[in-house]
Amino acid sequence: MERTPSATHLLLLAVIGWGCCLALGAGQLPEVDPATVKDLEELGAHYLPAGYTKANVSLADLQRLLRAKCEKANQALPAGSVNATALGTAIEQAGGQLMGCIGGLANVTEILDEIEKASPKGDLDVVFEKYCLRLPQAKACLRDFNAALQPCLTREERSHNALMQRIMDKLLEFVCYKNGDQIALFIAEQGPECLQASRDHIATCLNTTFSGYLPQVGQLSSENVADLLPELVLGPRQCVDLHDFEICTVRHLERCETITPSNIVESMFRYVRKESNCQPAIDRALQERRRAQALTAADPAVGGAASLAFVGRLLLLLAPLVARL
Ligand SMILES: *[C@@H]1O[C@H](CO)[C@@H](O)[C@H](O)[C@H]1NC(C)=O
Ligand SMILES: *[C@@H]1O[C@H](CO)[C@@H](O)[C@H](O)[C@H]1NC(C)=O
Ligand SMILES: *[C@@H]1O[C@H](CO)[C@@H](O)[C@H](O)[C@H]1NC(C)=O
Ligand SMILES: *[C@@H]1O[C@H](CO)[C@@H](O)[C@H](O)[C@H]1NC(C)=O
Repeated sequence: MERTPSATHLLLLAVIGWGCCLALGAGQLPEVDPATVKDLEELGAHYLPAGYTKANVSLADLQRLLRAKCEKANQALPAGSVNATALGTAIEQAGGQLMGCIGGLANVTEILDEIEKASPKGDLDVVFEKYCLRLPQAKACLRDFNAALQPCLTREERSHNALMQRIMDKLLEFVCYKNGDQIALFIAEQGPECLQASRDHIATCLNTTFSGYLPQVGQLSSENVADLLPELVLGPRQCVDLHDFEICTVRHLERCETITPSNIVESMFRYVRKESNCQPAIDRALQERRRAQALTAADPAVGGAASLAFVGRLLLLLAPLVARL
């Protein structure tokens, strides 16, 4: 089976859950595998908002961002009681360790090689079983990184953090469901090709839904950059945005040759959503939208009233004419 390595790279990186924002940082950390850096940069170039390139965002920018975030999270504490620079540095180091930790469990180059060799023989499941057995270690890597984040989270963010950690675990579990059956199926059914073919659309979905969450590149050096950073919470707004992103993405993936990739991605979203407390917020938003839509068009009662009003206004306009007759 012919496949483009970059598509599979994309898939693997995306599903392993390395956020796009790590892409910029990783490019500047010496201890990270250059192949991984290249993949992350490609991901970042494609999915980060316009202007977020390595050329525009320096390591110093990212460090300042982290420091500002750590400062802001601890602003209620007495001045001088926390060293935001040290906390930021700790996160940065933890990020490097996360990359190294995951890299030690799964070398992307090697996985691609193994996939390439296994797929003609129909042995993809063997490959994924091997890597899925390392799932507990991967979770531990994430947990260590998450621990370094804690001192720089606000009280509210911290209260959401356990949930986010659980969601991250769920995502990994989804990929490794039945020792990787799910992802083996995804690859066999041309999921990577489908993602690749849809990537501009997915980037648009991302941009439409989430562009408001990140500061513009030009604002990165502003004094109050911490105020421009998103809150790392999964509140009603984030839930609805995630749902919109899901609908947008799945709709595009449905156009691929087979429906399987779209189905798998959709069930991944569903699997993760079940773990969150998002459903009520999503239901409420959908209901409100339906109501708003009904008001503008579909509802016959409102529509009827609107046309009555229109006829009335028309009559008023015509009245002088009629009177003159
Ligand atoms: C990943 O594997 C390739 C090929 O075996 C190797 O050249 C590379 O150094 C490995 N990277 C890491 C980080 O181990
Ligand atoms: C970012 O870099 C690109 C070129 O990579 C440039 O065209 C753009 O103006 C830069 N944007 C900002 C805000 O610096
Ligand atoms: C904060 O920690 C850094 C090391 O990360 C150190 O260089 C700096 O002097 C510390 N600042 C204060 C005010 O303690
Ligand atoms: C992303 O969204 C922003 C704001 O909605 C818009 O200004 C920008 O042109 C979009 N960029 C792309 C590449 O679609």
